[in-house]
Amino acid sequence: MTTPVVGSENSALNDAMHQPLQLNNFTVKNRIFRSNISGQFDHYDGSGSNVRINWEEKFAREGIGAIISSFVPISRQGRIVPNYAMIDDDDKIPFWEELGQAVHRHDCRYILQLSHSGRQRDIPDIQYPKGLSSTGKNEPLHGFECTRMTKSDIDRVVEQFAQGALRAKKAGLDGVELHGANGYLINQFLSSGINDRKDECGGSLENRARFVREIARAIRREVGDDFHLQMKISGTDYNNAVFPWEGRGNSLDESIKVCQWLEQDGVNAFHVSSGSMFPHPRNPPGGLPMDVLRNTYAGMAASGRHTVRNFLLFRMWPTGPFFSWWWRHRGGPIIQGISLDDARLIKRAVSVPVISTGGYQSASVVNRALEDGDCDAISIARSLLANPDLLKIWEGGADQPERPCTYCNKCLVNGTMNPIGCYELSRFDSPKQMIEGIYSIFHPREYP
Ligand SMILES: Cc1cc2nc3c(=O)[nH]c(=O)nc-3n(C[C@H](O)[C@H](O)[C@H](O)COP(=O)(O)O)c2cc1C
Ligand code: SF4
Repeated sequence: MTTPVVGSENSALNDAMHQPLQLNNFTVKNRIFRSNISGQFDHYDGSGSNVRINWEEKFAREGIGAIISSFVPISRQGRIVPNYAMIDDDDKIPFWEELGQAVHRHDCRYILQLSHSGRQRDIPDIQYPKGLSSTGKNEPLHGFECTRMTKSDIDRVVEQFAQGALRAKKAGLDGVELHGANGYLINQFLSSGINDRKDECGGSLENRARFVREIARAIRREVGDDFHLQMKISGTDYNNAVFPWEGRGNSLDESIKVCQWLEQDGVNAFHVSSGSMFPHPRNPPGGLPMDVLRNTYAGMAASGRHTVRNFLLFRMWPTGPFFSWWWRHRGGPIIQGISLDDARLIKRAVSVPVISTGGYQSASVVNRALEDGDCDAISIARSLLANPDLLKIWEGGADQPERPCTYCNKCLVNGTMNPIGCYELSRFDSPKQMIEGIYSIFHPREYP
């Protein structure tokens, strides 16, 4: 590694974040990845839209090294909401091919996140009234019901992941990421706080890891060795952060062991997050804006078995303000690099690159994490949502943008009802400017 000069003016092109990174068979031009950001800009049937291509290109154009896609369902039953582009069928390949080409034109790499919701969905009934899971226990926040997967369900879903990876390869994308974090299906198998099975996929860590290891091996069988495969993992589950009566879930030591096994199975990098549900006080770290939630969350809060409790938690005084305080309190005081300690220890235990996510917004913090060898790349969601030109701002010598992301999480809680974008009014001169920013990607592909 070079010797970067952190925070000094125009040191940018020499510093750690600008060093190229080798991932399997390709090189990423720098160490800044756009982290996964879901938004409902596609079609009900799971086909992709121009808006998504405009959206991804917006970040590629600003010099980001690689983009990791939003949650892309590998099957209809694995959806969280409608209106997310899927990769469940060969008919989706041309869309992903077009998107990949648009991103590649800016010398940016594209990694697709292969995802399955399991029991954790934003709407309980998209064609399938119940989700699948490692357990038959309801999802804890809304009380959405689910079905404990049988062996043949497991075999089918493993195959769906493998076919999703093959389609991404056929579409010319650079790689895939298994969404193994944040309470989705793979995490529901891995986590001791969720998985209550008595068969060979439950109990010991070895058994709980069987599902994801089968997926990794099946993907390798389909795509060969020269296609990049990474895994997003919750270093620590903190499964009882919101509801203290739940089990604690996996420790970092357990996740380290899982990463070591997965490396043997052909996983080429780990993307380290935290928390066994989404959202979680530690992911994305920051506020829980109850004023926005009252308007956007009504549909979700009225679904599932916990409607009365959630009505109190999200809409009433004093339970609402208390819950908001509790959420922030359980997230802890650190925002930038909230999961970096986990990333560092995972990196020491594996020999493949490690990407750290969570709160990054300052050039000095990013460069320090990379220089110290705590991780090999940084992934950023909200600070890029707020300032897509963040990298250029840093290159101009500023450590932080003039109008930084406030970590309010209004982007997140608007996501169930409104188009994805930055909704922090204090960052804009007027509401009109804010809405124009959000709608800036809603135009035909050829529109100037
Ligand atoms: C609006 C929004 C949507 C997100 N969607 C996804 C997703 O689809 N898949 C995923 O793994 N993480 C998702 N995340 C988590 C981010 O990728 C990221 O890991 C997390 O927000 C912490 O990074 P940040 O502090 O830079 O935002 C999302 C976060 C936000 C704010
Ligand atoms: S709404 Fe804007 S300021 Fe608030 S967390 Fe999202 S990107 Fe950051």
